[in-house]
Amino acid sequence: MSSFRIAPSLLSADFSKLGEEVVAVASAGADLIHFDVMDNHYVPNLTFGPMVLEAIRSHTDLPLDVHLMVKPVDRLIPDFIHAGANIITFHPEASEHVDRTIGLIREGGCKVGLAFNPATPLNWLDHTLEQLDLVLIMSVNPGFGGQSFISRSLSKIKAVRERIDILEKSIWLEVDGGIKSDNIAAISKAGADTFVAGSAIFGAPDYSAAIDSMRLALDEQ
Ligand code: DX5
Ligand code: ZN
Repeated sequence: MSSFRIAPSLLSADFSKLGEEVVAVASAGADLIHFDVMDNHYVPNLTFGPMVLEAIRSHTDLPLDVHLMVKPVDRLIPDFIHAGANIITFHPEASEHVDRTIGLIREGGCKVGLAFNPATPLNWLDHTLEQLDLVLIMSVNPGFGGQSFISRSLSKIKAVRERIDILEKSIWLEVDGGIKSDNIAAISKAGADTFVAGSAIFGAPDYSAAIDSMRLALDEQ
């Protein structure tokens, strides 16, 4: 059993049949369902909210990995918890009080993630890492699917891996943006264990083949 996790992003799914898309990627071997929430304020795009999360909750037992790209963030957190989120990740720039936001998510019984844009410094981890379950490194600027992987993210992933290993706590290192079967091995080599992929999975004719080719690349390294 591989310790890597593949998280298809619904951002690239067919929105007219989200329930079916969730079932399809689950049976194709997804480990998590990545749910990108955008507000046209923190990022220049608009997607879906807690009501849509609740609607897909009944279609899968897989963990729902909610990536909040919204500002302000606190008001919406209880809504996503009640809608059935399992992991809630937010961006520190979108919170007035990062420690309070972490607490809100934790008190609601969800795992907590902190997300880093390409230009966001890792010093946000200085006083938070021990309280996190997941660190999300954005390897594109947030807002859109189908962008190219920013290669300088690799050194950032390595730096986060070192910080996690020092702590000796099980914290997932998730990477999001531009991941394909031809770069996933390098991303894992840098230290990632959880891989978000939108266009590389939902843009493929066969979701199983797309996920299998990522796992193969991970196993072969
Ligand atoms: C971007 C989102 C990503 C996006 C990834 O803001 O957070 O999850 O869906 O899409 P791809 O894999 O197409 O880069
Ligand atoms: Zn995302």
